[in-house]
Order: sequence, then structure tokens, then C-alpha cells
Amino acid sequence: MRVLVTGGAGYIGSHTLLELLAQGHEVCVLDNYANAAPDVLDRVRALSNRPLRDETGDVRDRSRLDKIMDDFAPEAVIHFAGLKAVGESGTNPLGYYDVNINGTLTLLQAMQRADCKRIIFSSSATVYGEPQYLPYDEAHPLNPMSVYGRTKLMAEQILTDWAAAQPDRATVLLRYFNPVGAHPSADLGEDPRDTPNNLMPLIAQVATGKREALQVYGDDYDTPDGTGLRDYIHVVDLARAHLAALSYAATQSGARPFNIGTGQNYSVREMVQAFEKASGRKIPTINSPRRDGDVAAMQADARRANRELGWQATHGLDDMAASTWAWQTKNHNG
Ligand code: NAD
Ligand code: UD1
Repeated sequence: MRVLVTGGAGYIGSHTLLELLAQGHEVCVLDNYANAAPDVLDRVRALSNRPLRDETGDVRDRSRLDKIMDDFAPEAVIHFAGLKAVGESGTNPLGYYDVNINGTLTLLQAMQRADCKRIIFSSSATVYGEPQYLPYDEAHPLNPMSVYGRTKLMAEQILTDWAAAQPDRATVLLRYFNPVGAHPSADLGEDPRDTPNNLMPLIAQVATGKREALQVYGDDYDTPDGTGLRDYIHVVDLARAHLAALSYAATQSGARPFNIGTGQNYSVREMVQAFEKASGRKIPTINSPRRDGDVAAMQADARRANRELGWQATHGLDDMAASTWAWQTKNHNG
């Protein structure tokens, strides 16, 4: 299939490119490198040994998209391009609505003009908000607690309405839980431009000595060890979910959300221990107050994705920690 991948140079996008190329898809990337290194696509070409088209540009640029649609004629789009920092979304809401909502609208308009009918969208478990029960299934009420989360929910609604307007359109909404880990080559991974916000990159920076200690945000939650529980998913498993979603979209119509997680969860302390084991280094921690907006626990009910997409996570915690450590040491050298 010819697949246009917006934001394909990013963390999840780059891993997905490898899976697409390995399965023989023809791929074109559109990325403006707002949050990606320029050499990522060369690494993907080297690892896959396959040709890859790329366009440097913004997903809000309609004339650029029209030209890509005319030249490449994608049969499906995977839409990763977007802004994702929860804290920043509160201080720059218009910037987030512009990229995440206008970007999605512009893309859909260009797809509609070119009669491209299938789209896979990067949504997030953050659309659920405070859990009313766990694990979250796809029928859980949607009540995101941040601007970022609201942009994801609004984009889901726009995509759902677009799919409903014609009987042969398909939208797959992938609600990712907590992506971690790196490609086994250690040539692709998460490369936060500024200070990371997420747990794994922060632990990795403590292990290399770049940071003195990990702040543990809250040790008095109602969880077995008092620290927050999350459903961490290896990025290679997550990348493969997009391939399963593409196959699904080839035969189904309408819009359908899927939780993409492992169905298990781990505490902050368990993540630290796994990383200590993988790196052979001690990770000093400091107990700190709870972080605003955090919930005690999150966990996916991923059975719909198992059943309908034929997809299942296969990588465990040790692999998540070991691959993060290999990526960190190979590329950042402490
Ligand atoms: P990322 O920042 O690594 O990748 C996003 C890519 O989009 C980057 O390469 C960036 O340069 C590009 N981009 C940003 N704005 C653009 C624009 N206006 N035009 C073209 N390209 C643009 O992030 P990621 O972790 O790979 O996330 C990919 C998607 O998944 C995002 O939509 C994100 O919101 C969503 N998501 C991520 C997580 C996570 O924890 N990483 C969790 C849930 C959902
Ligand atoms: C965060 C976002 C969420 C987004 C997700 C994936 C917030 C409030 N939520 O979720 O919207 O979808 O990232 O990008 O920002 N922790 C520490 N110390 C740290 C960092 C984190 O103890 O220095 C803890 C957190 O309290 C949490 C766990 O580690 O219990 C995971 O945190 P993080 O990686 O930031 O992910 P989420 O909070 O799940």
C-alpha cells in the first residue's frame, strides 16, 4: 500500500516506518522536524535497506499536502504529527490547538480532495481522564484533564464525523498508553529535545549521570508500593499496532477506537528497579510531592485490539528497560 506518514521522523513514527518498509509498503514521510533529528530518516533507510520518500513541511500547509497527494497518491495516511507536551499545552493552548486540530483538519481536507479514504490516528489514553474504573475499556467516559488531551479528543471527534460522512471511509483511533523503549539496533529511540517530562527518559538520564536523582512524584497513592502505576508499552509493539490497523482499515469502514497497551501495569519503583537491572547502575531517587494532573493508576483493557486487530504486545519490562539503556548509551554517551 502507498502510505503517507505525517510526523514519521518522530519517536513512534520512525519505528513504524521500519515496520511498514519491512512489510513492503511504499512510504512517504511529511515532517517539519519541530521535534525530530534530521538524520532519523537516514537511519531508517540504512536499517531497512529500502527507499523512503520524504518531504520537509508542515501538516497545516494545505498546498504542500495537495501536491503530495497528487504526486504520491497515498491509499492511507498515518497521522503522528502533533505536539505532545502536557505542561506546555496549558501555557500555549492556541499553539496546541493549531497544530493538533488545524493540522488534522487540513490533512483531512487534502485527503478528501484526493479521495484518500483511510487514516490511522495517534490518540492517547489521556482522553479518558480520571479513571472511573480500571482497566479502561474503549467505552470508558472521555474526560481529558489537559489541553493536550482535549486536542486529542477533539481530533478523534473530527475524524469520527469525517468517517461517518461517507460509507467507504475508515478511521482507526489508536489510544496509546505509555510508549517506552527503543529499536533493538539502538539506532532509533526517544530523543527529547528539551528536558524530558516522561519517566523513562528521566530515569535513563539519571543512570548516565546527567541528572543526580529521579524525583518520585508521590509515594502515598493507593497502590501496592504507593507510587503511580502505568501501562508501559514497548515502542516496537506500538509500531506494529499501526500495521495491524492498516490491514483493518483496508477492509472495514467507519471510525473505531482501540486501546494500545499491554494490559499490565508497573509502578515507578518497579520501573526504577528494571532500569537498575538493565544498566547495572544505581538510580538514586527522591520522594517528591504528587505532580498536578497525575492519576494513581492507568491500565489498558487491550482485548478489543487483540480480537479485532489481531494485535498483541510481546515485549516485556526487561526489554523496555534494556533497549532504552542501549539507545541512551549508544547515542548520548551519558
Ligand atoms: P514526536 O514528537 O517524537 O513525533 C511527532 C513528530 O511530528 C515529530 O517528528 C515532529 O517533528 C513532527 N511534527 C510536529 N508538528 C508538526 C507539524 N506541524 N507538521 C509536520 N510535522 C510535525 O512524538 P511521538 O512520541 O512520536 O508521538 C507521535 C504522536 O503520538 C503524537 O501525535 C503524540 O501526541 C501521540 N502520542 C504520543 C505518546 C507518547 O507518550 N509518546 C502517547 C500518546 C500519544
Ligand atoms: C504523561 C502525560 C500524559 C501523556 C503521557 C505519555 C501528564 C500529567 N500526563 O502521562 O498525558 O499521554 O505522559 O506521553 O503529564 N514520574 C515520576 N517522576 C518523574 C516523571 C514521572 O515519579 O520524574 C511518575 C509519574 O508520576 C507517573 C509515572 O512516573 O506515575 C509515569 O509518568 P509519565 O512518563 O510522565 O507518564 P504519564 O504521567 O502517564
